[in-house]
Amino acid sequence: KHETNENIIWHKQHVEKEDRVRVLSQKPCILWFTGLSGSGKSTIANAVELELFKRGRKTYLLDGDNVRHGLNKDLGFSEIDRIENIRRIGEVSKLFVDSGLIVLTAFISPFRSDRQIAKSLVKYDEFIEIFVDTPLEICESRDPKGLYKKAREGAIKNFTGISSPYEEPEEPHIHINTEKHTVQECTDIVINHLIKHGYIQ
Ligand code: PPS
Repeated sequence: KHETNENIIWHKQHVEKEDRVRVLSQKPCILWFTGLSGSGKSTIANAVELELFKRGRKTYLLDGDNVRHGLNKDLGFSEIDRIENIRRIGEVSKLFVDSGLIVLTAFISPFRSDRQIAKSLVKYDEFIEIFVDTPLEICESRDPKGLYKKAREGAIKNFTGISSPYEEPEEPHIHINTEKHTVQECTDIVINHLIKHGYIQ
């Protein structure tokens, strides 16, 4: 049971977000990649981060597998655990945005309502939803970790796309078709969006 504690008071700090943003000269935001397992979220997020890094931008990438080894190692893949997984990622991303960074997150984040909650934690223009749209058949044929095969055999329960739902974004800011574009082209699409909307120069 959660209770709000009236004795906990929010402290105003000497150094605030706008000070950090001024020093970094970039507009902090969350690049929220969503898509099926094996869709290419991590690959594209990594390539985008590298490009931003080369351009001298300050970034931080939160990646599904890595976060599940640490912060979220107590969570599995039931609906309730996925909701908690994304809730924590949203809160951590919010802190990083407050620190002035361009945050990249690469999680399946299968539920629309959870992505909406993550979005609502920051200002409306600080959340950029990127749909890495790779059809299930393609993800399954790639099967880089052999998980789809296990899921089909019933050895993994609640596997996204097979035995657990994936709710596609209805109006993502960026819709990436990985069948049509190379990783480099996908990266360019994201970087050009950031330039066009004034996040980076
Ligand atoms: S979620 O739905 O957003 O909480 O998932 P996420 O934290 O991104 O973790 C997805 C990665 O975990 C591996 N994995 C599974 N995925 C989906 N369903 C089940 N049951 C499952 N079990 C393990 C899988 O390798 C995912 O990696 P990616 O990088 O998405 O391919």
